[in-house]
Amino acid sequence: MNLAKRIQRIKISQTLKITTKAKAMKEKGIDVIDLSVGEPDFPTPENIKEAGKSAIDEDFTKYTPADGILELKKAIIKRLKEDHGLEYNPSQIIVCNGAKGAFYHLIFTLINEGDEVIIPSPYWVTYPEVVSLADGKPVFIETREEEGFIITPEQLKKTITSRTKALILNNPCNPTGVVYSRTELEKIADVILDKDMFVISDEIYEKLIYDDFEFCSFASLGEDIKKRTIIINGVSKTYSMTGWRIGYAAGPAEIIEGMKRIQSHSSSNPSSISQKASVEALNGSQEEVMKRIAEFQERRNYLLSQLQTIPGVSFVKPKGAFYVFLNVSSYYNKKFNGVLIRNSVELSDYLLNYANVAVVPGDSFGADNYIRISYATSMENLKKGIDRIINAFLQLKAVS
Ligand SMILES: Cc1ncc(COP(=O)(O)O)c(C=O)c1O
Repeated sequence: MNLAKRIQRIKISQTLKITTKAKAMKEKGIDVIDLSVGEPDFPTPENIKEAGKSAIDEDFTKYTPADGILELKKAIIKRLKEDHGLEYNPSQIIVCNGAKGAFYHLIFTLINEGDEVIIPSPYWVTYPEVVSLADGKPVFIETREEEGFIITPEQLKKTITSRTKALILNNPCNPTGVVYSRTELEKIADVILDKDMFVISDEIYEKLIYDDFEFCSFASLGEDIKKRTIIINGVSKTYSMTGWRIGYAAGPAEIIEGMKRIQSHSSSNPSSISQKASVEALNGSQEEVMKRIAEFQERRNYLLSQLQTIPGVSFVKPKGAFYVFLNVSSYYNKKFNGVLIRNSVELSDYLLNYANVAVVPGDSFGADNYIRISYATSMENLKKGIDRIINAFLQLKAVS
């Protein structure tokens, strides 16, 4: 079929592919433990669900302004002020269909053909795909496990060219769970300041931070930096609202206006009902969120204590999000029942087919030596899943 060339350039999200395969196995009655998921297992909190129901009952079910209702923009502005000391006005905020929707519109607003976008690797799968769709050029900076998966100012300096349009910072990071300290961000800001480029700061996991580590929003580093930063955030991960599809961007009014034009001709506006529910998420009690963060931290600690018992694997202790990025490369070129395992895709297939545990191969994040294990699942599932993984690794035999 004669489809557009751009569609040949991108692949279906690997994470969604694995999750779909795991679900299909479950439907066949196979007891699969899914540690591939990118969403909290908790339900949306009651107060938020009630706000959604009220929106329906009160007939708040029509088109809204393309960039979102003012009430929600105000709730976002309040959070940015209270949490990070950042001042925004409503023309600097847009509400979109998930953080993914915000990122998509942002890239299509900023990028001309051939513009370079710097993406630290390992990266969230969607970044390079959307940049490619927009005819931009993803340029990767490989971060190293030994350096805590943090980009260094030297690496950044070397990578910036006259075509560089933006740097994408994912903080906290999916898949590594790494969170940048204020000092580390300041070093990046120093490099950016005298360059004509933007920083896209994807802070969707900002509330999921452990061990009292202090999260710093990139835009809060100073007025000059704020002018070049577009924050991407949303309610999906913090409030277990992945299905409601509400994300947002905060940044210079001219950029936000561009995103609004695109949105007005694509989805028109995000769901009116979800917008009302999100007002409650941001303005309502945060008590439930705090409880869940404590639960995530407990799961992370358990998972790490178990992973430490597996010989030959390594990881950087994640400070945020709900993933561990596990270096499993010492298990490559080993065999199970005569079948050779050579890379992260084959290892993940082995774990799914032999141990009935779904994880995501690091290859889809640009790091083939790793697998991503999600702890966004109950402690009971996590215990079962990790026992199976440990056992599966023990079965792998060196090639003689
Ligand atoms: C780093 C990152 N950004 C954005 C998103 C998308 O969030 P949303 O569901 O709000 O579109 C995800 C979801 O997996 C993510 O991991």
